[in-house]
Amino acid sequence: MDESSFMAIIKEALGSYPLSPAIAHAIRFMFMNNYESMAIINDHGEIEFLDRLSEKAFGAPHGTARGRQAREIIPTSGLPDVLQTGKPHIGKIFNVKGRQRIVSRFPVFWDGRPVSVFGRVLLASLEELERVRHESQRLRNKVITVQEKILGEHQATYVFDNILGTSGKIQQTKFLAMKMADSDADILIYGESGTGKELFAHAIHNQSRRSTKPFVKVNCPAIPIELAESELFGYEKGAFTGARKGGKLGKFEIAQGGTIFLDEIGSLPISIQSKLLRVIQEREIERLGSQKLIRLNIRVIAASNIDLRALVDQAKFRDDLLYRLSKAVLKLPPLRERPEDIPTYISNYMKVIGRNKGISNEVLVHLIKYFWPGNVRELINTLEQSNFRASPNEEIRPAHLPEEVRAADRSSVEDNSSPEGSLRSRIEETEKKCIANALRITKRNKRKAAQYLGIQRSLLYNKMKKYDLDKDVL
Ligand SMILES: Nc1ncnc2c1ncn2[C@@H]1O[C@H](COP(=O)(O)OP(=O)(O)OP(=O)(O)O)[C@@H](O)[C@H]1O
Ligand SMILES: [Mg+2]
Repeated sequence: MDESSFMAIIKEALGSYPLSPAIAHAIRFMFMNNYESMAIINDHGEIEFLDRLSEKAFGAPHGTARGRQAREIIPTSGLPDVLQTGKPHIGKIFNVKGRQRIVSRFPVFWDGRPVSVFGRVLLASLEELERVRHESQRLRNKVITVQEKILGEHQATYVFDNILGTSGKIQQTKFLAMKMADSDADILIYGESGTGKELFAHAIHNQSRRSTKPFVKVNCPAIPIELAESELFGYEKGAFTGARKGGKLGKFEIAQGGTIFLDEIGSLPISIQSKLLRVIQEREIERLGSQKLIRLNIRVIAASNIDLRALVDQAKFRDDLLYRLSKAVLKLPPLRERPEDIPTYISNYMKVIGRNKGISNEVLVHLIKYFWPGNVRELINTLEQSNFRASPNEEIRPAHLPEEVRAADRSSVEDNSSPEGSLRSRIEETEKKCIANALRITKRNKRKAAQYLGIQRSLLYNKMKKYDLDKDVL
């Protein structure tokens, strides 16, 4: 075979692509680059070509490997095996002087018989590949741990069995809540402070098809106005000065797949409410500083202890948002409307803390008559305090009750006589009486009085001023 027939072989391989300078250079490059090394043996197993890198690696001065048996130069070479078996080695591990490399070896046939074998060694070390593999595994783990972390930090702990009470009111409320849990509808929970809004939200999530996904609570009054948008919707890196380097996930995105619980939704700034309405309607969010829309698959449970309609009247809450949230409303009954549940909570609490001696009858009667502006939470606090005051072996007596509970007397402050005059003046007179009553009952504790009346504290202050009730005497 002369050189022109060698050229004919290459040309035949190229087919209709003519041999060009680009192709010639590429072929040249194949024989002498720094990323792969190459060895070719003939049908007698003799080396016909060994690239410079391999010559160096095996200590063969340039050109001296020619005509030698492959294993004389490369002791662990697999080229003779491929020649013998006619079967290629593809992507095998090859130990070169203590380093693991990846090698491919191909038998070359011409006219049905083997004419040569060529091997190519990928010089990127396995450690390097291992490192890349490790890195991708690490990133994958990181994603998994972030997901686990989200689940760990955002889990609903309570279930319906934790909601106690045998009264018709609480039973009906539980029944309705269970139906809502199955439906996947957004829910608005109304209830005075301490009636169990959070408890119900947990139970609904845990009973729903989203129970294995995050339950993310957003305490709306705790978010500073200027951070509300980024807290809820997140931001892209570099969205604003002071933004975190990698951006930040918003609560909505953290809740993906699960439930977002917007507690005390009435205190969300009105500027955020329109964006929230859009998110609730479209089920899509845009992070701050990004135009990309992210699809959301979440359920929204909102809660409020004040009447949101009153906030709409004061232009502090959007009526379209209230309308959108009002499709499924769960109203939690205050404790004073179901005093028959009080013994249940008392005995449950005594069981939980392991107190043998219970409460005296006198205390029980008083607790049943008390108006509980802070509802079940206040009852539990009352029992906690009384438990501390009474020694373990005595019954809890009135003297052990917290002062504000002991001193309150609901029967003495209710006044049902209706005032006379125009409708407006009657309303005002009634309003004044209610506020005065609330202040008296709560011993002028404004927070409790506002809770009792179901209004915001700022409104209470305004009304107290209007009716001249802001002096410290009653
Ligand atoms: N029906 C109930 N059965 C058992 N425990 C209850 C019940 N309702 C409320 N509680 C308990 O009372 C406390 C207050 O409940 P929760 O925090 O859910 O009320 P809330 O309505 O969210 O109150 P707030 O408006 O003050 O945030 C919790 O310790 C809760 O476990
Ligand atoms: Mg709450």
